[in-house]
Amino acid sequence: MSSNLSSFIFCFCLVFLLQSACASKARHLKWELGYLDWAPDCVQSFVIGINGQYPGPTVRAKAGDTLVVEVTNKLPTEGVVIHWHGIRQLGTPWADGTAAISQCAINPEETFVYRFVVDKAGTFFYHAHYGMQRSAGLYGSLIVNVADGQKEPFDYDGELSLLLSDWWHQNIYQQMLGLSSIPFKWIGEPQSLLIQGRGQFNCSLARYSQTTWTYPWPETMCAFNNTQCTPHVLRVQPNKTYRLRIASVTSLASLNFAIGGHKMVLVEADGNYLEPTTVDKIDIYSGESYSVLIRTDQSPSTNYWVSINVRGRKPSTPPGLAILNYYPNPHTKLPAIPPPPSPAWNDTSYSISFARKILGKSSLNPRPPPVAQRRIILLNTQNKMNGYTKWSINNVSLSLPVTPYLGSIKFGLSNAFDSVVPPENFPADYDIMLPPQNPNTTTSTGIFRFELNATVDVILQNANTLTSNNSELHPWHLHGHDFWVLGYGDGKFDEKRDVKGFNLRNPPLRNTVTLFPYGWTALRFVADNPGVWPFHCHIEPHLHMGMGVIFAEGEELVGKIPLSALGCGLTRNLLIHG
Ligand code: C2O
Ligand code: CU
Repeated sequence: MSSNLSSFIFCFCLVFLLQSACASKARHLKWELGYLDWAPDCVQSFVIGINGQYPGPTVRAKAGDTLVVEVTNKLPTEGVVIHWHGIRQLGTPWADGTAAISQCAINPEETFVYRFVVDKAGTFFYHAHYGMQRSAGLYGSLIVNVADGQKEPFDYDGELSLLLSDWWHQNIYQQMLGLSSIPFKWIGEPQSLLIQGRGQFNCSLARYSQTTWTYPWPETMCAFNNTQCTPHVLRVQPNKTYRLRIASVTSLASLNFAIGGHKMVLVEADGNYLEPTTVDKIDIYSGESYSVLIRTDQSPSTNYWVSINVRGRKPSTPPGLAILNYYPNPHTKLPAIPPPPSPAWNDTSYSISFARKILGKSSLNPRPPPVAQRRIILLNTQNKMNGYTKWSINNVSLSLPVTPYLGSIKFGLSNAFDSVVPPENFPADYDIMLPPQNPNTTTSTGIFRFELNATVDVILQNANTLTSNNSELHPWHLHGHDFWVLGYGDGKFDEKRDVKGFNLRNPPLRNTVTLFPYGWTALRFVADNPGVWPFHCHIEPHLHMGMGVIFAEGEELVGKIPLSALGCGLTRNLLIHG
């Protein structure tokens, strides 16, 4: 263990010692990553699994614990990394698990040890962060409970967790080929939505059109000759309060989540507390997580559907379903009421009003600094580069260097990436309502550098895609930090008018936020974590097409990077020691 990290953990323990007994401990996990024959939606396919499991094992820890995860790559011919989404990696930027950014991809047969502190409680997850491997199923839940002696600011009798994803029958290699072909071939809408890695393609469970269900169910529901795709069951006791942890790792789909007959109280998002708000449906975007409290106060003689539906894109995907099983009903008993319908897919004002309902619990979360030292504006556009279709930020499409940034910056290697800083704004006369006048873009490995501890505002600005009258939704995720969501608006951001309207009183603190079609989203963060951190659209094919930027701060304070993050095999030691 690096001395830096051990002193870091020591400090952590000291803090906890003062409060209670030092209960934080190291949790060791040994994982083998490999392909598995699997049928996530009852159609035979393959996934990248962990220790023979899909989705990967749920990791549980307490705030202050050190996780030590020994990852061995058993994929025969490709590298892999694992990113711990929502964990800030304070003092351990090399454990962030981003290929070409924080580390070299782990080669086949090699082992990499991720060692980091989970510094605060919350609902998190982990996933691949190389190529489009997340879409191949390499993900799982990471749940951090409060440290011993601490209490959550709400009560519950039991806890359940749900990981949401989407699934294609075409594998990721075919998908990536289509995305980087001329003519461009889009991946299309998912064939199935999965809850806890389970969906049902083309079976009567899914007989549904946006508003009407075929009901009651035909006797022959589905021939589940494959236990891998039977709906996930949430077993509950009547008249209790449950904490439901919901996280989305979808590749593309924005989802609406609902439980038949039950209301939900939002209490946590991305590991930070929310002002409790009662809702009957939740919009959840890729990269987001929520905790909700539900009361099992409905008729105990039946079960209830849990359902997810596609939002924001014209859906051609049936809902994903799970069963809320009131004990002692058998879990196979069909619910008496149909799955709750979702708002119309294109009801953007519903989505925006839901987003505005999400407010931080200001008494429990840190408040944003009142002013920012720096403000950058990131225009999101779809472009062309030598005939290929790309996504760009201020007309620069992100490409990743051969040498991971963290190592090259720390060791001052020049020429490892473009030294030109990408533009931090776009031309004032750019018309966001029309396809780009000049669709041509460029690509770069350049990065944005921030002064350590600077308060930074980022304005995400949406625009029209290459298709007339079309603007897409993008959930943006920041590594290494949480940020305050200060506001959303329609049309073009106007600094003079819109900064005044920022919510500085009770903004939610998050790591992922949505940019709505033709709108802007404002966020603020403090650049207080030495390292190199991607900020990107969490839609897997969009990131793959260049939709992201790289932030760096306090590089000179980055501690001793483990050799295993800097190169591969035994020669890495020779390379570094000359
Ligand atoms: Cu969950 Cu950079 O991603
Ligand atoms: Cu996107």
